[in-house]
Amino acid sequence: MHKAVETIGILGAGRVGTALARRAVAAGYDVRVATSKPPADIALLLEIMVPGAQADEAAAVIAAADIVILALPLSKYHELQPDLFAGKIVVDVMNYWAPTDGAIAEFEGARSSSEVVQDYLTGARLVRSFNHMGYHEIEEAARPSGHPGRRALALAGNDAEARRLVAGFIDRIGFDPVDAGGLAAGRTFATATPIFGASLGRAEMQQALQEEATSSA
Ligand SMILES: NC(=O)c1ccc[n+]([C@@H]2O[C@H](COP(=O)([O-])OP(=O)(O)OC[C@H]3O[C@@H](n4cnc5c(N)ncnc54)[C@H](OP(=O)(O)O)[C@@H]3O)[C@@H](O)[C@H]2O)c1
Repeated sequence: MHKAVETIGILGAGRVGTALARRAVAAGYDVRVATSKPPADIALLLEIMVPGAQADEAAAVIAAADIVILALPLSKYHELQPDLFAGKIVVDVMNYWAPTDGAIAEFEGARSSSEVVQDYLTGARLVRSFNHMGYHEIEEAARPSGHPGRRALALAGNDAEARRLVAGFIDRIGFDPVDAGGLAAGRTFATATPIFGASLGRAEMQQALQEEATSSA
């Protein structure tokens, strides 16, 4: 039996990192945040932007977290230390945007960026999610369970238990999780797809994922 998810670790304190951190604090999670800077350098930012979240070193954040969220620029993923992620449930919210990240050969292929990140973080139980939603919507569109206008978030990952626990996190912070299956299914909600940036409820998301899977098969 897996222990309940209580602690959320977030790597990155920019637009997405702080939005997710605020939602997680509001949902009652213990939230720890790290960037590439020393914790003291982001403590004030967190105090103002995410009251209730705690700054720490990346290694300590990862060790304490039941779920680790990667909210750093994709171009920096090689700065992560793979050994720290062994066995960890990791949510990859990162997208490849050549105009801002610059052209990166390894992300130009047919695979989703999360498949490349999973290969790098070999031991991590990686789940791709949140990538298709703008950072401001993570807060503005969050709704309680059962709300008729609740939006859906797709998720994909190779570890079923990790997908289940990440789905629980998504639900608790205000969205309907829709399980797309293995990590390769993350391609169906990548940047160039109709799902990217779309506002969809659960049933619409299920249908859109199916259509995208069929059209790209
Ligand atoms: N913006 C959106 O609406 C949106 C939506 C979905 C997904 N995404 C994806 O989410 C990711 C973050 O986007 P963003 O808009 O939040 O970017 P951002 O505002 O530029 O923030 C990036 C954060 O990552 C930190 N960082 C850089 N290197 C790091 C490292 N090695 N370890 C830990 N933290 C590190 C930066 O702080 P330091 O430089 O001080 O370390 C900064 O706090 C991107 O991959 C993006 O594609 C963005």
